[in-house]
Amino acid sequence: MLRSLTLLALAASATAEYSSNLNYRSPSLSHKLGISLPKVLKRHAKRQAGPSYADASAVNFTHGVASGDPYPESVILWTRASLMYDSDRSNVTVSGTVPLYNHDTEEYVRASANPICVDYNVYADQNLTSVVTTGRAYTSSDIDYTVKVEAGGLQPFTQYYYQFCVCGSDNRSPVGRTKTTPRPEDDLSSIGVAVFSCSNFPNGFFNAYGNSARKDNIDYVIHLGDYIYEYATSTTPRPVEPQNEIFTLYDYRRRLSTYRTDLDLLLSHQKYAWITTWDDHEISNNGYRDGSSGLNNTEQSFEDDGRVSVDQRKMNAVRAYFEWMPIRQVDMDNNLRIWRSFSIGSLFDLIMLDTRNYDRSITTLNWNNDYITEIENDAGRTLMGSQQENWFYNQLKNSTAAWRIIGSQIIFSRINVTTWFGTETNPYNSDAWDGKYRYAQWPET
Ligand SMILES: *[C@@H]1O[C@H](CO)[C@@H](O)[C@H](O)[C@H]1NC(C)=O
Ligand SMILES: *[C@@H]1O[C@H](CO)[C@@H](O)[C@H](O)[C@H]1NC(C)=O
Ligand SMILES: *[C@@H]1O[C@H](CO)[C@@H](O)[C@H](O)[C@H]1NC(C)=O
Ligand SMILES: *[C@@H]1O[C@H](CO)[C@@H](O)[C@H](O)[C@H]1NC(C)=O
Ligand SMILES: *[C@@H]1O[C@H](CO)[C@@H](O)[C@H](O)[C@H]1NC(C)=O
Ligand SMILES: *[C@@H]1O[C@H](CO)[C@@H](O)[C@H](O)[C@H]1NC(C)=O
Repeated sequence: MLRSLTLLALAASATAEYSSNLNYRSPSLSHKLGISLPKVLKRHAKRQAGPSYADASAVNFTHGVASGDPYPESVILWTRASLMYDSDRSNVTVSGTVPLYNHDTEEYVRASANPICVDYNVYADQNLTSVVTTGRAYTSSDIDYTVKVEAGGLQPFTQYYYQFCVCGSDNRSPVGRTKTTPRPEDDLSSIGVAVFSCSNFPNGFFNAYGNSARKDNIDYVIHLGDYIYEYATSTTPRPVEPQNEIFTLYDYRRRLSTYRTDLDLLLSHQKYAWITTWDDHEISNNGYRDGSSGLNNTEQSFEDDGRVSVDQRKMNAVRAYFEWMPIRQVDMDNNLRIWRSFSIGSLFDLIMLDTRNYDRSITTLNWNNDYITEIENDAGRTLMGSQQENWFYNQLKNSTAAWRIIGSQIIFSRINVTTWFGTETNPYNSDAWDGKYRYAQWPET
């Protein structure tokens, strides 16, 4: 009786710290699709009563720090605090059975029995003398040891510094820098942003991230998607883990974590607040609402192609993305929604779309080009789906800023590109806003 009372009391006090890590709350605290906090708390209580495995000095901030989705009063802060470099191996949801090596006892223990507590401080100055806000959060294998918190009570259009540390210890993360946005009514004449997309780690180096960070003359970073690629790869000089095409939750976590070993990318995340949206490759090439070019939802796909359904793969990818990216979930009951907007003073509104995974009609899957040609004038086709389209319309209509800037992951204007199979130019991109397949005749001007 006494014991269970103690556990209950402990659970109650720890709830706030668990739910302050936004990654536990996704998609919502109030229904059962997400991680069961009561179960996590129960394990936490057991650990508090038993031997302490998570020795503070053994915890590493394995992948630096990051910040994102700035608002005038708050910003998202991110880190990963773990005993291990590898990602959690549970592929679907919570698994208490996956072994984790404990360096103290030199034996494998249940990974999820080791919640890790971190505190964070936000400072007004680079010397970390003036604390502006502070908080505590827990993390565990359930969310791949990621930590994502919202730091509030901040001033608009102001630069801040932040640092995480393992609770009650001197084990600290690198210091990050971030910046809130101006209030919608604030006048400003210029702002600097760096815009990136299509960053394929095995294909080359990320000096573009590094150079803009070293020049240090911008305010925010925008990434329009294809932050990772899902392909199988053993390509030198930069093979990525895992080397197979990625399908499982572990696969997506591990792929994201490999990208986050690039020092230029880490530097950019450490210096700037990022605003991101995804394109297809965060999940799978030429994705749309119900599939992608690389995976059919058929019996064969369960036997040979990844052994997952299209929906399960999407859930794995989306979950890992929310865990690893410093992104807000603007609608906690809608895990797939990342379309959202930012007000950058009276200068511009930034409207970030998802023309890809949310509610898009079928796109070219390479083997269905005849079909895409057949339906090219079908008025029922959609890139965004009606819910997002209505929202987008209202965003444009209601905006009072001087400019409206739209973050779109696919190409809007018509451009001639040389096709991969020959020297002909192709005026249409059937996977982008054009939505139609290569034309035999050039269009009239
Ligand atoms: C943690 O960091 C230390 C120092 O960089 C390193 O020696 C150690 O191998 C790291 N541990 C893990 C589990 O990555
Ligand atoms: C997760 O998937 C990988 C393949 O990507 C497999 O090797 C591993 O055994 C799976 N783990 C669990 C716990 O099912
Ligand atoms: C920060 O610390 C450095 C070195 O200790 C010192 O030179 C500098 O004046 C300090 N800056 C502020 C703003 O206090
Ligand atoms: C999906 O199905 C189509 C039509 O049957 C086929 O041409 C294509 O190769 C399949 N894709 C995969 C990845 O199995
Ligand atoms: C735009 O304004 C209308 C009223 O004119 C309101 O109903 C709607 O919620 C607003 N939309 C957005 C996205 O702010
Ligand atoms: C595309 O290329 C064709 C053939 O070279 C040319 O006639 C056409 O004007 C070009 N279209 C655009 C949009 O550049």
